[in-house]
Amino acid sequence: MKKVVMVFLSACLLVMLLSLSACAPQENGGGNGETDVKKVGIVQIVEHPSLNTIRESMIDELAVLGFVDGDNIAIDYQNAQDDQTNLKTICQKFVNHGYDLIIAIATPSAQAAAGETTEIPVLFSACTDPVGSGLVDNLEKPGKNVTGTSDAVSAEQIMELALRITPGIKKIGALYNSSETNSVSVINDLKEYAGRNGMTVIEATVTNTSEVQQAVQSLVGKVDAIFSPTDNTVASAMPVVAQVTRKAKIPVYVGADSMVQDGGLATYGVNYVTLGQETARMAADILNGKKAGDIPVRMITEFEVYLNLVTAEAIGVTIPGDVLDEAVEVFDK
Ligand code: TRP
Repeated sequence: MKKVVMVFLSACLLVMLLSLSACAPQENGGGNGETDVKKVGIVQIVEHPSLNTIRESMIDELAVLGFVDGDNIAIDYQNAQDDQTNLKTICQKFVNHGYDLIIAIATPSAQAAAGETTEIPVLFSACTDPVGSGLVDNLEKPGKNVTGTSDAVSAEQIMELALRITPGIKKIGALYNSSETNSVSVINDLKEYAGRNGMTVIEATVTNTSEVQQAVQSLVGKVDAIFSPTDNTVASAMPVVAQVTRKAKIPVYVGADSMVQDGGLATYGVNYVTLGQETARMAADILNGKKAGDIPVRMITEFEVYLNLVTAEAIGVTIPGDVLDEAVEVFDK
């Protein structure tokens, strides 16, 4: 009799254990382990503070949304070290290995990724001018395999801020990489604005970071202020720009907060943590099965004032009180 009870109890225990394991949490997306791990390639043209912020904020937000690297997604992050050939090699590798999603940070990376595949979804992040850069034809209905987020800033709004801080600018230096289509589009707006407001634009273009010092030096003595858009090449060499212009006492107005942190005087720019999170939301939608072409490009349209008071002091500029009040972030060391 005892034996029968024992056998019965063990059978019950077995049934309980089996049903418990059946209730165990499933992989995200109802997957069953390894085979369902999605491969996500992240390609970044270069490592500068703004692009790193975007990438980190995006990966953090993806985890919040249930896509955890090393768990249900496998992220392969590659930095092209500001080299077009590297960009191509990286994107080809992502395509040849049949990755499920390519996330391209900044315009040069996005152009390279979109050039390698019409099948794999390409999600771009922080591309200033997605249409002008040939990434999509229509922001609302991208249609193909490419969509993403844009950090388009307004040359006009940045110049209006510039004139509130340092009135009387007549000659403005334009410092940028002429092969970055993201910069060319903003510089065209700057030229148009200058034309309408009786200002002259003096260009100093570069093709890589090693040319930045000479280019900025070439503007010394010729301009009242310098403008640099969200240019990946200039952003990577911002400390050098700060060094030259602080000494020459020239205000530098830039396209992004990180360029202010690295010594530019001011910007009217977007929040890149928010932009990274927005990119993650779109990535999650694609990983959940939505077609990239059906997702409209997300433009970040909230701009805020960022100031660098160390630079202001170094060049002998007093920031007006109303501009100070408006700033969301003031870098003072
Ligand atoms: N908007 C840039 C592009 O289209 C990328 C970018 C984002 C950037 N944040 C920046 C460039 C800050 C310079 C500085 O490629």
